[in-house]
Amino acid sequence: MKIKRILKWSAGAILLALLLFLFIAYWRSTNDCNIPLQGEIMKAIKVCEYGIGAAHIADTIKPVPNDDRVLIKVHAASLNSLDIFMTRDTWITRAVLGLRKPRYTWRGRDLAGVVEAVGKNVTQFKPGDEVFGICNGSLADYAVARERALVIKPPNVSFEDAATLALAGQTALQGLRHGKIQAGQKVLVNGATGGVGTFGVQLAKALGAEVTAVCSTGNVDLVRSIGADRVIDYAKDDFTKSGERYDIIFDNVGNHSMSERRRVLTPNGICVLVGFGGTSTTGSAAIGRILTTTIAPLLSSFTRQKFVQYVTKLSNEDLVFLGDLLQSGKLRSVIEKTYKLADAPEAFRRFDQGHMRGKLVIKMD
Ligand SMILES: NC(=O)c1ccc[n+]([C@@H]2O[C@H](COP(=O)([O-])OP(=O)(O)OC[C@H]3O[C@@H](n4cnc5c(N)ncnc54)[C@H](OP(=O)(O)O)[C@@H]3O)[C@@H](O)[C@H]2O)c1
Repeated sequence: MKIKRILKWSAGAILLALLLFLFIAYWRSTNDCNIPLQGEIMKAIKVCEYGIGAAHIADTIKPVPNDDRVLIKVHAASLNSLDIFMTRDTWITRAVLGLRKPRYTWRGRDLAGVVEAVGKNVTQFKPGDEVFGICNGSLADYAVARERALVIKPPNVSFEDAATLALAGQTALQGLRHGKIQAGQKVLVNGATGGVGTFGVQLAKALGAEVTAVCSTGNVDLVRSIGADRVIDYAKDDFTKSGERYDIIFDNVGNHSMSERRRVLTPNGICVLVGFGGTSTTGSAAIGRILTTTIAPLLSSFTRQKFVQYVTKLSNEDLVFLGDLLQSGKLRSVIEKTYKLADAPEAFRRFDQGHMRGKLVIKMD
């Protein structure tokens, strides 16, 4: 009798939680697309409905920085997997960003540009400074960012190159640190040719590792050109069957089981779970990889070989470090194509197809 009552209560609680979740997701589904524009107007990429085709150039209000923010005239921005995830029409995007419409209509996180104005509490920047970093809504003529999300752009680094760095570069750097990278170690980068992968290969080399890069046939030349010591074409060979062992697997893709990856890790090796293969991975494959990525770190807490997962954190020091590497020529931005802001919707369609060579950059002027 007691068990029956507990089950009844649990089912009721789950139903209530589900209804609450649906209510919140529905309530969050309003956005700013139909609000009359008042104030100074600028151009920006907006997404008012779900679907890659919904990304369009629109008039919008030029942002005004509050006391702690910096207003930047954006010169260049770059696309990340996150922008495509936020735009696609999938149930997971609707569950997270609003059932009917995307609550957030801005797109773009990475930016490089010139400081136009600063709030009264901002101490590190002044109008005219050339900066790069992270904000919400960099695909626009102007954007506002937190002071600690920006650093000074090294003088001989172009705005386009600087605009590729923040999210993908920090993800690669912090991922390798989660793998406890040391000079002389063997590092395998699975998914070596996208935004994160091209920085991952170069940073692992710069930190003294011997790097094996896994990529598709068409990108073999690219990974060689950025310094990979060995290349595995995943269309021809499976790295988990090679017999080679690695101290770190820097895994952007997650397309192998835990046991397959364990087989090619050294006894104390670390598999860094970065992502699920970018925008090429959809549907049930994505769900399977998300589940494995969630469970693997827990299961590996009982073994010497570790699986670690992480979320990229904004770090001023890391941005400076990456900018310096770019300035010294030890790191380079791999850019597949640069688009004008008006053509940014085409860049969304290109990113959505997957298999890119590095980053897509949007130039504002
Ligand atoms: N942990 C975090 O906080 C964090 C932060 C940012 C990004 N991420 C994640 O990191 C991942 C990479 O991001 P990105 O911007 O670099 O994406 P991307 O530019 O779309 O790159 C995806 C990479 O996956 C490769 N790939 C796809 N299928 C593959 C397969 N079957 N075998 C081997 N490689 C395969 C692609 O190589 P080919 O083109 O050669 O097939 C490409 O190199 C994404 O999943 C993203 O969500 C995580």
